[in-house]
Amino acid sequence: MPGTARILGIESSCDETAAAVVQGGVNILSSVVASQLAHAKYGGVVPELASREHLRAIVPVVREALARADAGLEDAAAVAVTEGPGLVGSLLVGITYAKGLCFALGKPLIAVNHIEGHIHAVVMEARQSGAPVRFPALALVVSGGHTHLFEVREGFGYRLLGKTRDDAAGEAYDKVAKLLGFGYPGGPVIDRLAALGDPDAVRFTLARMKGNPADFSFSGLKTAVLRWVEANPMEEEVARRRERLRQIDHPGVEQWLALTPKRTLDLLASFQKTVIEELMRRLDAAAEQIAARTIMISGGVACNAGLRAAAARAPLPAPVLFPASDLSTDNAAMIAAAAFPKFERGEFAPLSLAAKANLALA
Ligand code: KG4
Ligand code: ZN
Repeated sequence: MPGTARILGIESSCDETAAAVVQGGVNILSSVVASQLAHAKYGGVVPELASREHLRAIVPVVREALARADAGLEDAAAVAVTEGPGLVGSLLVGITYAKGLCFALGKPLIAVNHIEGHIHAVVMEARQSGAPVRFPALALVVSGGHTHLFEVREGFGYRLLGKTRDDAAGEAYDKVAKLLGFGYPGGPVIDRLAALGDPDAVRFTLARMKGNPADFSFSGLKTAVLRWVEANPMEEEVARRRERLRQIDHPGVEQWLALTPKRTLDLLASFQKTVIEELMRRLDAAAEQIAARTIMISGGVACNAGLRAAAARAPLPAPVLFPASDLSTDNAAMIAAAAFPKFERGEFAPLSLAAKANLALA
């Protein structure tokens, strides 16, 4: 029975090894995410390190997901796996493992686009809440790798409305964090510290775009932060933070706060305010353009407290839905959920499925 089918989802596109069992595209029976801490001190994901960590984690993570769902491999109606976009060496670990399971068990394989997965995190939660997404919907996928706006039509047809021309929003957070000695990922720590600074202290100008008004740009802002740091030297505090990172992979906010003066909190607050304004401005215009009936915001940056507050305050033309934080960042429940309509349509992938570093959704 398709409505109760349990799908085992596997995600390994970047630095999270994840597996989940989702029933009927809605009920999360388990969702296990192993985050790789080893990248913190390098200021970004190191691809070789990532694939090695995936290899180490994939078997225990899948086992754990099945155990928590009280299921065996034979209970899965299909295995869904992220085919791209992402790091090829990382994607390959999940894909190879999923193919092996399907070959051994005679189960169908379903290939899922990671970006579509992020969108389905919202769709799944909306269905759980009993207030499903209404179409046409507007989806903003905003993460370390993507800042994309899509029109989503009934039956999950996608039209790309705009995307970043340079850095993704999460990438801008991560690069600013690296510059200031906060380590990777930068979003969560900057978000917490920004709340303690004055967002009007430093004036950054918003990107002015020619051409498609739904496109984003964040590299100018990143450069403006760099220029500000050059004009207001802070070598000593940055060195102290880097030293802390050498001692410990993920210092807590209290520790960072003790190493961060008010002037830097103000810089972070001003940076965050500018990122949010850039996102909100394009979102508002695109929602009007397609007469969206629901607005969905997902991807790691959707965890951002400032962005959630801005979306709640803004007079947007349709209700805005965010996934819970653990479904905003990379996870496999969203992959299993995105696979469900494909399962119902019998849209299966061949066992020759390849990893695709660059895979467009529309
Ligand atoms: O979706 P995700 O887990 O992986 C990608 O597909 O990229 O997103 C990770 C990104 C990182 O760039 C991280 O810094 C950012 O999401 N991020 C945040 C926050 N939490 C995670 N950015 C801003 N504010 C946050 N609270
Ligand atoms: Zn992602």
